[in-house]
Formats: sequence, structure tokens, C-alpha cells
Amino acid sequence: MGKALIIGAGGVAGVCIHKCCQNSAVFDEICIASRTKSKCDKYKAELEGKTKTKITTAQVDADDVPALTALIEKEKPDIVINLALPYQDLHIMDACLAAGVDYVDTANYEPEDTAKFEYKWQWAYRERFEKAGLTALLGSGFDPGVTSVFSAYAQKHYFDEIHYIDILDCNAGDHGYPFATNFNPEINIREVSAKGSYWENGKWVETEPMEIKRVYDFPEIGPKDMYLLHHEELESLGLNIKGIKRIRFFMTFGESYLTHLRCLENVGITSIKPILFEGKEIVPLQFLKAVLPDPASLGPRTKGKTNIGCIFQGIKAGKPKTYYVYNVCDHEECYREVGSQAVSYTTGVPAMIGAMMIMTGKWKKPGVYNIEEFDPDPFMDALNQFGLPWKEDFSPKLVD
Ligand SMILES: NC(=O)c1ccc[n+]([C@@H]2O[C@H](COP(=O)([O-])OP(=O)(O)OC[C@H]3O[C@@H](n4cnc5c(N)ncnc54)[C@H](OP(=O)(O)O)[C@@H]3O)[C@@H](O)[C@H]2O)c1
Repeated sequence: MGKALIIGAGGVAGVCIHKCCQNSAVFDEICIASRTKSKCDKYKAELEGKTKTKITTAQVDADDVPALTALIEKEKPDIVINLALPYQDLHIMDACLAAGVDYVDTANYEPEDTAKFEYKWQWAYRERFEKAGLTALLGSGFDPGVTSVFSAYAQKHYFDEIHYIDILDCNAGDHGYPFATNFNPEINIREVSAKGSYWENGKWVETEPMEIKRVYDFPEIGPKDMYLLHHEELESLGLNIKGIKRIRFFMTFGESYLTHLRCLENVGITSIKPILFEGKEIVPLQFLKAVLPDPASLGPRTKGKTNIGCIFQGIKAGKPKTYYVYNVCDHEECYREVGSQAVSYTTGVPAMIGAMMIMTGKWKKPGVYNIEEFDPDPFMDALNQFGLPWKEDFSPKLVD
């Protein structure tokens, strides 16, 4: 059917590449382009001959908009799948506009020198994408991504009004290291060391980092400590879900992870303020990233499961209603299938599905959209088909 240009060749991109290759009817060609071309070539060598999808590779610095535009014009893809880092989002959107191609990503823009993510920078592109007749799909990972599709699905099929959403992200995987992050360490640590917040009655309520803790008994996993974090889908769901009064996001962390994080923060090595080291300017967090295990190396070592889902409370036909929808993913099964652990898997699969929704015309609409703004049904079907089946519970235990 068409061609995708995948930018980035890290953990999430690896899964997306495998999934495009399992779906050759839609992706009959992919070009993998990243800063380090050898990583793209490694994926090509792994998959070539095992798939009908034609694979090419290229070197590109996505922050160099003219170079990226030239690459897009040369490769002529139908869509660009941005799986680089959030810092590149605006540059890649600029190149897509210049070359006239649709866009999809999994994480919202974040300036490199400020640990703050917000949609306002990408929403500012709405008119330009609309005028160009191009679609930009924001946040097609798991959270944001599937959690937002779950919300659209709950709204469409089960509720007249949703009042409360709790998004619960549990990773019960064990990689055997005292401290490692499951996706890009820089992005992960910026996210979890920031202040928490939740959306209530049209306003943000801010908390200290990890101030709010709950224990939840996760299906197929058991009880885990979870902590309230700020998370990007709260911002768009607060606008797009009818009647919403409160949305919170919780993520599980083990004691060892939190103790290490606290210690690293106390010694100043999670800071993003540049310092002078032996006459050279370095960012402490980037140095920490360089000494931590590469998330892509965790695949063969990680055992256990993830469970990510949403609990909704609201009304249907005048009566109170609750609904829990979630996916359970097994780290070892993911590794057997695509050579990655479940955190990359749960992000890379929805990235492929989001691109497929646009390429097949199901979600083709000029403008910039968050994922919950589209019809959730074909995406929910594709989750079952491509390795992220979901389960429903109509009387779940609630989070207080
Ligand atoms: N929505 C979700 O559920 C979710 C969950 C997890 C992650 N994510 C997002 O997924 C994305 C990828 O995460 P990951 O764990 O795969 O990260 P990763 O392993 O660090 O991979 C990032 C890739 O992007 C490449 N890259 C960085 N800057 C570039 C540039 N200027 N030009 C071209 N390529 C560049 C890197 O190249 P090098 O190899 O040269 O460094 C690397 O291959 C991130 O944006 C992350 O926030 C979303």
C-alpha cells in the first residue's frame, strides 16, 4: 500500500520496525533514518529476507530541517513516524510541512533546556497542517496513545459522561540491575523527578514529586506501590472528554528505583543545567545516561509483566457506572517476538497502528490531532490483532 519513513533507531523504533514488517500489506516499504546509521543497518540486517517489506536506511540529523526535508523529498514516504526524542518533534513537523507528508509521534515536544512538556507548541501547528491538507497524529504510543484510545472507546460505547479517569501504569518487570530505566534514561528521569500534578475541575493541582502514593492490586500481577505523576495525556483528555471532573496518572516504582533516584538527585547528577567539567561543558543528566544500562540491552534480562490501563467512573442512562480496560504484556514474550522488552513493545506497536490508521485513510483528516479525537474502534481492533490485546472489567476496585 505505501511507504513509511521511520526516524530514530532506538528501543521503540526497533519494535515499530518489526511490526511494520509483520504488516507488509500496509507497509510495503520502510526507510529507517537516524543519527547513527549503523543502528538502522542492524535492524535492516535482522529483518531482510524475513519480510515482504522493502527496507532501506539513511543517516539524518532530524534537527537539521533542510537535510531532513531533502531526505523526505528523496524517499517520498506516505508518512513520517517520529521515534526520535521529544526534542525533535517540532523540527520533524517543520520538515513534514515543507515536504508535504503526514506525521505521527509518541511523545509531546519538550525543549531540551527546560524539563517541561506541554502540547501548546505542537497545537500551534494546527492551521499549517490543515492548510497543507496534512494529518499530524500526536501521542501514538501507550501512554499517551492507547490510554487515550481507551478513553475515547469508553466515551463512545459505555458512558454518557465520564467524571473520573485514573490511568494506571504498572511495570512489574525485573531486569536484575539495581537501577536502570526502561526507556531513554534522560527522558524517563526528567519525567519522574518533576513535580506531580492532576487535572481537577478544569485546573491543574500540583504536588511534590512522588508525594501521592497508593497501592493497587493489578490483575495478573498483584499489589504494587504506585505514585501520582504529571503525564502528557492529562492535558488533552481534560479538553476532549465530555463532563470530566478529574484525571490522575499513577505509575508503579519499586523501593530500589526510588532510593537510587533520590540519591542521584541529592548528589546533583539528574540536573539538566550544564556544568564545566575538565574545561568542557557537560549536562549532568546526559553524563548519567551515558553510564546507565542502554534500555535496548534490558530485553534479554527482563522478566515479568506490565499492566497499563484506565479506570473510568461516570454515568450511563442516569445511573453510575465504572469500567476498567487494560492490557497485560509479558516482557519475555515480547523479547521472543521482536527482541525488545515490554516497555518498548507497548510503545512501538501503537506507533505502527497510528501510522496504519492514517495510511489506510481511516484517520486521514487535515490538521493536528490528539489520538482520542479519532474513532477508537479500528485502533482497538488493531491492538488485538498486533499483540496488545485488552481486557475489560465492569466492577473494578477503585483508587481512593
Ligand atoms: N507514549 C509512550 O508510551 C512512550 C513510552 C516510551 C517512550 N516514548 C517515546 O518514544 C521515543 C523513543 O524512545 P526510545 O526509548 O526508543 O529512545 P532511544 O532508545 O533513546 O532512541 C532514540 C533514537 O532517536 C535517535 N535520535 C536522537 N536524536 C536524533 C536526531 N537529532 N536525529 C535523528 N535521530 C535522533 C537516537 O539516535 P542515536 O542512536 O544516535 O542516539 C536513537 O536512535 C521518545 O520520544 C520517548 O519519549 C513514548
